[in-house]
Amino acid sequence: MSDIKVISSQLAKLGLENPTAVEGSYPNHNVLDLLRNYITDELHQLSSVDKRIIFESLDIPSTLDKGDLIIPVPRLRLKGINPKDKAAEWASAFNKGKYLKEIKAEGPFLQFFIDNSLLYKLLIKDTLERKSSYGSLPVGLGKKIIVEFSSPNIAKPFHAGHLRSTIIGGFIANLYETFGWNVTRINYLGDWGKQFGLLAVGFDKYGSQEALDNDPINHLFDVYVKINKDVVEEGEDSEINNKAREFFRKLEDDDQDAISLWKKFRELSIKKYIETYNRLNIKFDVYSGESQVSKDIIKKVSDIFEERGLLYEDKGAKLIDLTKYNKKLGKCLIQKSDGTSIYLTRDVGEAIKRYETYKFDKMIYVIACQQDLHVAQFFEILKQMGFSWSKDLLHVNFGMVLGMSTRKGTVVFLDNILEETKEKMHEVMKKNEGKYAQIENPDEIADLVGISAVMVQDFQSKRINNYEFKWDRMTSFEGDTGPYLQYAHSRLMSVQRKSGFEESELLNANYDLLTEECATNLIRVIAQYPETLNKALKTHEASAVVTYLFNLSHIVSTCYDILWVAGQEKELAVARLALYASARQVLNNGMKLLGLTPVERM
Ligand code: ARG
Repeated sequence: MSDIKVISSQLAKLGLENPTAVEGSYPNHNVLDLLRNYITDELHQLSSVDKRIIFESLDIPSTLDKGDLIIPVPRLRLKGINPKDKAAEWASAFNKGKYLKEIKAEGPFLQFFIDNSLLYKLLIKDTLERKSSYGSLPVGLGKKIIVEFSSPNIAKPFHAGHLRSTIIGGFIANLYETFGWNVTRINYLGDWGKQFGLLAVGFDKYGSQEALDNDPINHLFDVYVKINKDVVEEGEDSEINNKAREFFRKLEDDDQDAISLWKKFRELSIKKYIETYNRLNIKFDVYSGESQVSKDIIKKVSDIFEERGLLYEDKGAKLIDLTKYNKKLGKCLIQKSDGTSIYLTRDVGEAIKRYETYKFDKMIYVIACQQDLHVAQFFEILKQMGFSWSKDLLHVNFGMVLGMSTRKGTVVFLDNILEETKEKMHEVMKKNEGKYAQIENPDEIADLVGISAVMVQDFQSKRINNYEFKWDRMTSFEGDTGPYLQYAHSRLMSVQRKSGFEESELLNANYDLLTEECATNLIRVIAQYPETLNKALKTHEASAVVTYLFNLSHIVSTCYDILWVAGQEKELAVARLALYASARQVLNNGMKLLGLTPVERM
């Protein structure tokens, strides 16, 4: 990430000095940090409060009418003062300089309003020149993170939990990249276990090479369902089950024939997954999986368990009693009596292997909250094994999706959901005949907009909330939906296209002509984008970004009624267009960060 100094060079041009930068502030990347530094300097002189404390008290208010930055005076931790009186006293004595337009005391709050013309001059250039890197902050440079997400199980449905993990994980990986981290995306497949024995037996009985090549995911699932039905009918001790166990044994013993069949299933499935992930703009660096946890690693894990005296035996099985460290974690099975490893132990082994391979600074697991206990258990086990890096593991969890089945009510795979959304989106688009006739590639647009519908619906509220999958609601162009964001973006593209102005003209526009309140609101919201990303990084919530983008789009839409471009004098038209172009860049950045593909026309 290059360190572009648009802001500081602009300041120099305006004859302004850079205020001293408080440690941890990024005035060259974030205008609000620049203002924080200015306010901190000035308020420090007035109040003698420690600069760090002032800086950290400067929040963004909930609405623009309360200012661009706000300090709740009690946050300054001064003893024996009346916060209201102090706010009033400081507001009147404050040196606005060229940075501020106004300072208001509102009860115990100090509200700071940034000079509008400064905002235009700094931000329009900054967004138009930095383009896709506007909003990024270089805080993670030199640090490594692993984000594990999606992780479906071969031959089983790609259910809603996997969908959520996929899109939330994709967003989180992009977010860390935006902050300069070196990100490795890992998909940890469910590709091992007795079910592969069953699958092999099932394939022998019901499988077809042709069907496998054509549609591996659905075919393997089909086979798996059929063979499971046989097991239910014939009972646990049936011939089929014995054969399945035998096959899995062979897999564990590295039998070449067994391995090669298993490998074929795995490779064909991955090939298909890759196509689907491509539609969502997601690329994994590594397809790992439960099968990739070697016997050596499992052996190493057991050795450490023995060394540290962590295990106890019960009826031939080995367990760890985690209640000693945390009551809620219970006692957990580590090794079955037949010696085979289990899901939990494999996670322990895989984490160790990843640390040895990547020496990560942080590792995130994006897994549904149904597995909260499982994750907490293996984190605790790693801690008790003495791995200090276990403190750098983070579980990003999420709630359930209710009612996600295809409209025909069949079993869902991600692909089917995306196809069906596309069809539905296509129907919605056709309703506007005039517009529809102008779209060159309706199929592609329906696909991209449909995907946005699914993703935005998912991102709309906090991760941990459950939500209901609503076809009609999410594909509507009205209300806060994915199609609405796409529409907002394509409309901004169209304004820009129709004007025919060059980019260089926009960069040299006369921003003094931007005086309307809606224009000012727009630039003030554009200023908040880097902060929004910061907030998302702290909380791992995509909803922070989605809410921001809706807010931005709503303000843009109020501008259309007032800030006309067509039919205006050129100088004015150029200035307005520069503002729209800046808003479009920010919307584009935010959408891409979420994993959407912003469309240019629709
Ligand atoms: N394959 C698992 C499932 O579908 C999810 C894996 C989550 N990741 C992990 N490291 N355990 O339930």
